[in-house]
Formats: sequence, structure tokens, C-alpha cells
Amino acid sequence: MTTAGNTTTVPDRQATADPLQLIDVDHVRFYVGNAKQAAYFYAQCFGFRVDQVADLTTGERETASYLLTQGNIRILLTTGLQHDHPAQRHVQLYGDGVKDVALNVFDAEKAYERALSNGGNSAYEPVEYKDEHGTVVMAGIQTYGEVIHSFVSRHGEYHLPKVKQGGVFMPRFRKYEQFALNDYNEKNPCGLKYFDHCVGNVELGKMNEWVEWYENVLEFKLFKHFDDKDISTEYSALMSKVMSSGNHLVKMPINEPAEGKKKSQIQEFLDWHNHTPGVQHIAFRTDDELHSVAELRRRGVDFLQIPDSYYDIVWQRVEKTLKEHGHDSVREDHDRIRDLGILVDADDEGYLLQLFTKPLQDRPTLFFEIICRRGSQSFGKGNFKALFEALELEQEKRGNL
Ligand code: FE2
Repeated sequence: MTTAGNTTTVPDRQATADPLQLIDVDHVRFYVGNAKQAAYFYAQCFGFRVDQVADLTTGERETASYLLTQGNIRILLTTGLQHDHPAQRHVQLYGDGVKDVALNVFDAEKAYERALSNGGNSAYEPVEYKDEHGTVVMAGIQTYGEVIHSFVSRHGEYHLPKVKQGGVFMPRFRKYEQFALNDYNEKNPCGLKYFDHCVGNVELGKMNEWVEWYENVLEFKLFKHFDDKDISTEYSALMSKVMSSGNHLVKMPINEPAEGKKKSQIQEFLDWHNHTPGVQHIAFRTDDELHSVAELRRRGVDFLQIPDSYYDIVWQRVEKTLKEHGHDSVREDHDRIRDLGILVDADDEGYLLQLFTKPLQDRPTLFFEIICRRGSQSFGKGNFKALFEALELEQEKRGNL
């Protein structure tokens, strides 16, 4: 183990029989071209609190990182301060995007060793960040493309429950004081609670390879609710399988392009992502889809536009499924759902409300999803047809169809 900070000591280890038992999504790190400006964008549009920073003023010489928080969501926006920093290269190749889906575990080093012995490749060896308040240990493995999963274990004042209560994220971070939007966001919440799922796009023919990788290396399971047969419709220009951690804490769907009448949205992503797999979207959970979408729209978030014709048939389809399985009707106001352009889907367990943003940067790559579950644990497969139509419209505008 190498040490960044003061001296190396053995951190207090919590005992667990399973080194790959995941406690939480520790954070998701984006590599961006200008973290200071990106922080403002995500605070303004999505209501994140710009909570902490690690930069030149805190002794960080190579990167500047901003910790954005909302509910149990932690996003790190990192930019390289030197021309040859890996974050700069990453941005050059892929634009702004997700580098690391970091997982909180009891013992990062043990989780890392287990993943390696399961056939994973190292992204970086265990590093300990330590100061008088506590210790954070991180170690990384590579997944599809250049995306990594860091394992993060925390000790002392850096324990995740303390971070959630407003404690400092890790050594070299400080609270970001006097950011005017933080007060505004507290008074005007967007209601995003936690990461629901995080989707990766991989090349044609590679989906099953990555499904096996999640099974073998991270010991995930195929999530029973969803497999490729479910979404094989005439409009299916993608294949998808959902991988889930043992405790269903983390769901990582994997998409690959499929032959369609027109260019797959997955292929468009790959074309603009330097022909390299990467994270296509992150879904944030809300308890109140209508409130969240209304507030996000008010703040200027650009959502996919759902064709009016969608609402001509959606209620019949959704209510029929709910009735068949003995569930109550959709309780949200139908007219408001239509006015806000929200998508609805139902399955044997209930229904869900969801909506997708347009790409968050100029390249048609990463976007967000806002999702609210009322029993349903699936991903909105009934919306694929309507969604493809909406997406094709956007692709056409970009000259990518
Ligand atoms: Fe999704």
C-alpha cells in the first residue's frame, strides 16, 4: 500500500466474511474540462449542493475536485491542473464523462484483492489518504472502456455516515463556503435521493462478455426482472442486461447496439466516445417524479421531448398491466404527467415514472435519468418504442441517423 498524506498505519478494519459486500455507492467521479464551471452547471440545473473542494488551496497540486451532494448522491467533478494529467487526456478523448463508479466497502484492499483473484485488472493499487481526522483507503479495478470501480473504505471522521451528515469527504478536502446557490437549492429542492442505476454502453457483441465480467469479478448477478428477450421489439436498436450486486444496492445495466432500421443510439454514443465503451446514463431516484421534473424544468434542464401520440395510448397500456396484476392505478395526475412530458411504465410489481435528459455536454454521450418507482423494479422497457422515436428525432437533428 502506498501512502498519500502523513504516515502509513494499518486502518481499523471491520470484519466481514465477504470482501465484495457493498455498503453504498461511495461516489461517482466525472472527469471534466473545467470542474469549477461544471459545478455551477450541476448546482444550477440539478440542485446539487457544491459542498467541498480539493484544489491548490488545500494542497492538491495535480487536480481540482468538487464534491457535489444531494440526498445520498455524491458526485466528484475532477479536472486536471497539468497538461499531462490523465484527466486531461480523458477529456480530450471522450469529453466530460464518468471515470469512476466508486463503491464503499468494509476493506478496500481486501475487496481489490478479491476482484483481482476473480480475474479483474488493476486500475491502481491501494492508496491510503490519512490525516489526524482519519483514513480513507482506495483501490481501483478496470471495467469497460476506461471506466473504473474504486473500492473505498473509510475510518475515523471519514466514515461514510459522518460524510453524509456533512463531515469532510477525505483528506485535502475543505467545505466550500459562501456558494450562493447552496442556500437557494436548500430552499428549492429538486428531490433527487440516490443512485438508482448506472448504465454502460459497450460494443456490438460485447454485452455478454461484460455481463460475465460483473458475475465473475464483482460477483454480481443477472437481475431477474430484465433480460434481452424482454426488449426485442421491432424498434429494438439495443440489447440490454442488468447486473446487480448481491444486496441489489448497485444495478449496472449493460447495453450493446443492435441492428435496426436506423443507427442505434448506442452506436451513436460509441462513435462520439472515441469508439470506446463508457457510462451512458446515471439514473437518480426521486420519491416525487412530478415535483422533481417540474423543478428541473424550471431550472432549465433539457429533457427528451416525448411525442404527443405517446399519451394517446400510455394509460390504456399501463392501467391494463396494473389491473392484471391487482395493483392500484397510477395515482399521479395524468394531465400533469403529460404536461411535464413524463414517461410511465408498469409491470407485475407496480409502475414507474421516468424521464431522460438530453446529453449533458455537446457530445451526444452522458445523460441523466430521473426515476420514481411505485413498486416496479424494472427499467421502463414499455417505453422503448416511444423513446426510440424521441431519440431518433434528436439523432436526426444531429445528423447522426
Ligand atoms: Fe435507465
